[in-house]
Amino acid sequence: MSESVIDIVAAPDHLGTPRWHAVTSPGSVAGVADLRPVMPFEYELPPPTALQPGTLDLNLYVQPQWRRRGIGSRLLAAVGAHAVGRRLIVETAPDSAAQSFCERHGFRRTGSRIHDLLAYRDIHHAWLGELVDVEHPGYRLRHWTGDPTGASGVEQLLRYPSRPGDAVVSTAEADGGVVACVLAMTGAPSQRRARQYGPAVRVGHRGRRLGLWVNAALLTRLREIHPHVEEIETRTADEDSDLVALHRHLGFRPLGRRLRYELTLP
Ligand SMILES: CC(C)(COP(=O)(O)OP(=O)(O)OC[C@H]1O[C@@H](n2cnc3c(N)ncnc32)[C@H](O)[C@@H]1OP(=O)(O)O)[C@@H](O)C(=O)NCCC(=O)NCCS
Repeated sequence: MSESVIDIVAAPDHLGTPRWHAVTSPGSVAGVADLRPVMPFEYELPPPTALQPGTLDLNLYVQPQWRRRGIGSRLLAAVGAHAVGRRLIVETAPDSAAQSFCERHGFRRTGSRIHDLLAYRDIHHAWLGELVDVEHPGYRLRHWTGDPTGASGVEQLLRYPSRPGDAVVSTAEADGGVVACVLAMTGAPSQRRARQYGPAVRVGHRGRRLGLWVNAALLTRLREIHPHVEEIETRTADEDSDLVALHRHLGFRPLGRRLRYELTLP
């Protein structure tokens, strides 16, 4: 089929997430791009200042039989027209087509991350329960559910009561406020994989196993609220060996490395 009959059409999802489809003439979709807000509290408390507000996560996918025909570039052009001036983040496997694509389109490499996966069937639930039940004098656990879109940090989320949404947050609080937090994002009920961000522990409260505590609490809570979730993925900056060790302690297994690329749209 000729590329000239492929249309790039806006197809936002039910939550309004910007999305584009590359539609071939019989009505089937050859490629998809979507944009999601980056979780500002991914690694650190307080959020890293380096992360510009309004940074967006770009997901781009072209069906293998339609690749190298310019469809990915056309989808990126549609994204660019929509998100003028915004910064995009993309993650790719090393030595992949996506890496070549990013370099071709002027994305700048800004780091790499370790990609891990935890399956609920591999978790020893009694052990997890024991981790949650450990006393941490002076700290209390709190959970929140809802939609984190547009929030600048976890403390902002917690100002609102829990409501239906894709995010589950577990925090440890002390008198001064949130000192540790971890967040999981779920997708549609057909998606069995959730994505975890963190945990992050505020400087001055580290070394007290609060990260392990909130993470164990999140894993328990997530399964209660979203029983369809079967596995959780997480991505950790290469240099954050303590966080990788925490994930592995909980049973996360390595899936590989991902390279992070960024592009500020003109
Ligand atoms: C990355 C991806 C979206 C590219 O889609 P595409 O429609 O094939 O991309 P285009 O045809 O527009 O390619 C544009 C340029 O990117 C580079 N490129 C794309 N695929 C490449 C490959 N396999 N090897 C080398 N360069 C490649 C080339 O410079 C290409 O230009 P050229 O064909 O004139 O040489 C597609 O390979 C894909 O879906 N990969 C899996 C999903 C993924 O990893 N997404 C990560 C987010 S980017």
